[in-house]
Amino acid sequence: MLGRALAGTATATAAAVAASTQLDVGGEAYSTLYSTAVAPALRLLDAETAHRAGVFAAAHGLLPRAKTADDAVLRTTLFGRSVPNPVGLAAGFDKHGEAVDGLLGIGFGLVEIGSVTPKPQPGNAKPRVFRLPEDRAVINRYGFNSVGHADAAELLRARPAAAPGAGLLGVNLGKNKTSDDAAADYVAGVRALGGFADYLVVNVSSPNTPGLRALQRRDDLKQLLRAVRTAVDALPSPPPPLLLKIAPDLSAAEKADIAAVALGERVDGLIVSNTTISRPPTLAAAAKTEGGGLSGAPLRDLATETVRDMYALTRGKLTIVGAGGVGSGRDAYDKIRAGASAVQLYTALVYDGPPLVPRIKSELAALLKADGFASVADAVGADSKAKKGRWF
Ligand SMILES: Cc1cc2nc3c(=O)[nH]c(=O)nc-3n(C[C@H](O)[C@H](O)[C@H](O)COP(=O)(O)O)c2cc1C
Repeated sequence: MLGRALAGTATATAAAVAASTQLDVGGEAYSTLYSTAVAPALRLLDAETAHRAGVFAAAHGLLPRAKTADDAVLRTTLFGRSVPNPVGLAAGFDKHGEAVDGLLGIGFGLVEIGSVTPKPQPGNAKPRVFRLPEDRAVINRYGFNSVGHADAAELLRARPAAAPGAGLLGVNLGKNKTSDDAAADYVAGVRALGGFADYLVVNVSSPNTPGLRALQRRDDLKQLLRAVRTAVDALPSPPPPLLLKIAPDLSAAEKADIAAVALGERVDGLIVSNTTISRPPTLAAAAKTEGGGLSGAPLRDLATETVRDMYALTRGKLTIVGAGGVGSGRDAYDKIRAGASAVQLYTALVYDGPPLVPRIKSELAALLKADGFASVADAVGADSKAKKGRWF
């Protein structure tokens, strides 16, 4: 009985996926297909299997495509490169770089792969990722499962040439669990993967690798970034921009230290933020007691306030990419007004699937226009005292 029901679901899902590939990700037809056939099937799978299924679909051309051009108000410049919109996919979904073009195809303006570690490593024992549906959140303790630099480089080398004006590829670098020379791991990442990247990210903020977050401390960070900056500058010109990804769980003094070091060591931007180790008292789902990093809606305001702090502390001089709980155009807009030049999301995609991407973009475009902004750049930091040219 159950077997027949499952076979029926599998057949219906396969038919839905096949139909999806012809559809516009922003259209009514795909939205209905996703909510009635694809999402219910994914919910039957445990979180990691559903994640793998999503990556597989994106890697094998089984996702719909964005067939409608983005609203002109969303076009923006990041690190001197023009992108069609400022809505990105955060690191951790495509950890190895298997599915970049399928993901750009659903309409992201930037897709960040990784974290990639130098040597392959399996990550933590399963289960290691949990849905918290009542909270629209996820807890993960993947622990940098990675194919390693060499295999990721091979996957990126096999990509077709990027279409002009397409979104950016970010490459997020991690360190091996057993490595005792963090700087060497990140420098190796720059050398192995920097040539494929439109921007590089030094991730020192995942909570699932012992000792990693301590690299955010002033002296360690200074040493690390100096070594990484030197390696980036040695790449063929022009080298990719260098970003630092930070946690949302920092004290005021730690944030001030990071801002000073990032400016001093010529970092180009910050990704704010990674998952949180905190557990807000509002969490309702059974999985709230799992260990790991919490992402999604309960992280949203903490991350936005961290964007605001870092924008002020860096006096608007660094490009900030805001991540954490973005699930609507309003959420994206709040982060932009707090100081982000672009945003990223991951967890909301777990709950809403690809139709979320065009929805966020059209909501964001409407909010920008309603407030009289001609572009995303005009709105960056609008709510911050550090708005460039206004207070400094
Ligand atoms: C399952 C999962 C795996 C993640 N893996 C990584 C990772 O490998 N490297 C990283 O820098 N961030 C990782 N993240 C953090 C996200 O990139 C993002 O910073 C965070 O989830 C906040 O965004 P969100 O609330 O939209 O998910 C991961 C997040 C999730 C949910």
